[in-house]
Amino acid sequence: MSKIPLPFSIFLSLIFFPPIITPSSIIDSYLYGGCTQQKYTPASPYEANLNSLLTSLVNSATFSTYNNFTMVGGSQQDVVYGLYQCRGDLSMPDCATCVARAVTKAGDMCRGSCGGAVQLDGCYVKYDNATFLGVEDKVVVLKQCGPSVGYNPEGMGSRDAVLGGLAGSGGPFRQGGSGEVRGMAQCVGDLSYGECQDCVSEAISKLKSDCGTADYGDMFLGKCYARYSIGGAHQASKAHGKARGPVLLIVALLLTIILVSSL
Ligand SMILES: *[C@@H]1O[C@H](CO)[C@@H](O)[C@H](O)[C@H]1NC(C)=O
Ligand SMILES: *[C@@H]1O[C@H](CO)[C@@H](O)[C@H](O)[C@H]1NC(C)=O
Repeated sequence: MSKIPLPFSIFLSLIFFPPIITPSSIIDSYLYGGCTQQKYTPASPYEANLNSLLTSLVNSATFSTYNNFTMVGGSQQDVVYGLYQCRGDLSMPDCATCVARAVTKAGDMCRGSCGGAVQLDGCYVKYDNATFLGVEDKVVVLKQCGPSVGYNPEGMGSRDAVLGGLAGSGGPFRQGGSGEVRGMAQCVGDLSYGECQDCVSEAISKLKSDCGTADYGDMFLGKCYARYSIGGAHQASKAHGKARGPVLLIVALLLTIILVSSL
């Protein structure tokens, strides 16, 4: 190795370890978040309850894809409710990592707020002093539609078939694909079977009506979401989130070109 000039060894390391987007960076991409207006009193029993709730969420995510907690204090004012939901296809280590990131993000964003919610690509976390556990919520919290691919009956036909498959299958996590189309739906685990069905159906009908012929669509309602992409459109365009992968890839390509031309 000592005979290889330094620039060339950098070039080799770029070939063998290309800085591409890793799955875990996609899982941790931030999608949306929000905080309540109400603030709690610093160093109050509420703050202590909130901290122990957030710790419980992170610990529980090492062995369960969904859980809810209610921390009761000395008085009714100190009660805090919380839950998390990992995407159904995540492994337990990835679920725990994701929930820990979401809790950190919520803590940074919602400092001092009674309630907060954060959705990353791979998991969702929410806490509040008003109970929301077991309550269906179909308010649109995030809608993203990719660029239109133009009217293409075949592509839209498979898109609709994949979405129909998601609506028709039961359970909190649903996944499907046909040709270049991939679809996914996820309910928060506190919904009943029927409520999940109702929520996913609504997300899917909104995707069809609002995203038209877009090459990807994301419809996040309060307690469920449905998403689709055609030809990997999500990963490629990544209009949302903090996708640093493509930037790193461009930097790597530029470096490679500079190094090659200087050899
Ligand atoms: C939540 O906390 C805020 C601020 O302390 C308070 O105004 C509000 O009434 C509380 N809500 C519930 C449901 O306890
Ligand atoms: C919350 O968690 C408890 C204990 O794990 C469980 O019995 C209950 O059904 C859960 N509630 C909801 C709304 O998911």
